[in-house]
Amino acid sequence: MRLHAGVAIVRPWRDTDADALAAEANDRRIASNLRDAFPCPYELEDAKGFLAMATAMSPQTYFAIEVDGRAAGGIGYTLQGDVSRVGAEVGYWLGVAHWGRGIMTAAVRSLSDHAFASHPELRRLFAVPFATNAASARVLEKAGYTREGTLRDSVIKGGSVLDSWMYARLRPGSEPRAQRWYTRPVFFVGDVQRAIRFYVDGLGFVKKWHEADGSGTVCQVDHGECEIILCQDAERHDRSRLFVELTRGDLAAFRRELAERSIPNRTARWGYDVVVVTDPDGNELFFPIEG
Ligand SMILES: CC(C)(COP(=O)(O)OP(=O)(O)OC[C@H]1O[C@@H](n2cnc3c(N)ncnc32)[C@H](O)[C@@H]1OP(=O)(O)O)[C@@H](O)C(=O)NCCC(=O)NCCS
Repeated sequence: MRLHAGVAIVRPWRDTDADALAAEANDRRIASNLRDAFPCPYELEDAKGFLAMATAMSPQTYFAIEVDGRAAGGIGYTLQGDVSRVGAEVGYWLGVAHWGRGIMTAAVRSLSDHAFASHPELRRLFAVPFATNAASARVLEKAGYTREGTLRDSVIKGGSVLDSWMYARLRPGSEPRAQRWYTRPVFFVGDVQRAIRFYVDGLGFVKKWHEADGSGTVCQVDHGECEIILCQDAERHDRSRLFVELTRGDLAAFRRELAERSIPNRTARWGYDVVVVTDPDGNELFFPIEG
């Protein structure tokens, strides 16, 4: 398992992560926003104990966030039991040096997609940040979670009784709608492997399926609810254009990711201002810029 999350990768923990984990986790600014079970100070022995547990668990639901080839944080979900077994609680933290680069937003998005894809019974992912944790609330909102309410006086941290917020994201498609048309465009491409590299490595899409043995000519890549079928056909030269609507904050984070990966994009006018990303075959993604 290896998920793209902007400039980071989400992947299973390894025993060799102990030094990096202890170094990144050992900060009161992290522990003060988490449950008391998260050690503070965070010693090498704590890291080793956690890794022994995380690498042995089945199914694996706790993962490392890797930045520049080194573990920089953690993210995971805890499957609930009994009548709550349709749900899982998401938790995450990131080393302070990496804050503010959109890493956790991308990681929560990717991990949420992965959790729903890996556990068909899951209907609901939720997180319960302390009501003092505006950054985490923002991450959840950008990752498609909705604040359902305030759990008043629900936690005690560092001697203070605090409210917490209940955030949840339901399985895509399970939100009630009057009528839902499910659409997926087909992009014709000259070389499906090249297109996969562009969408997955370049734009942060996840490969959803790839016909036959994973080497066929048709596959689907997803980024949240944006789903594109890539179809290799040397005879087809018609190009597609897709509008993708992002919030202003998401678009800004996405443009930062494009810049970090040197992916060309331009602004243009299509009745209003848009950011245009063109794939190697000339298919275009239009991202409207909110006025
Ligand atoms: C919360 C945390 C995971 C965020 O990680 P990150 O990679 O810096 O998050 P991102 O860069 O993806 O997004 C952070 C967002 O919060 C915003 N933000 C940061 N500090 C904020 C604050 N004090 N008030 C309001 N918003 C804030 C940022 O501006 C950004 O939003 P934007 O893109 O709209 O500008 C990280 O700070 C952390 O590990 N904190 C300690 C552990 C923790 O709180 N875990 C979650 C427990 S529920």
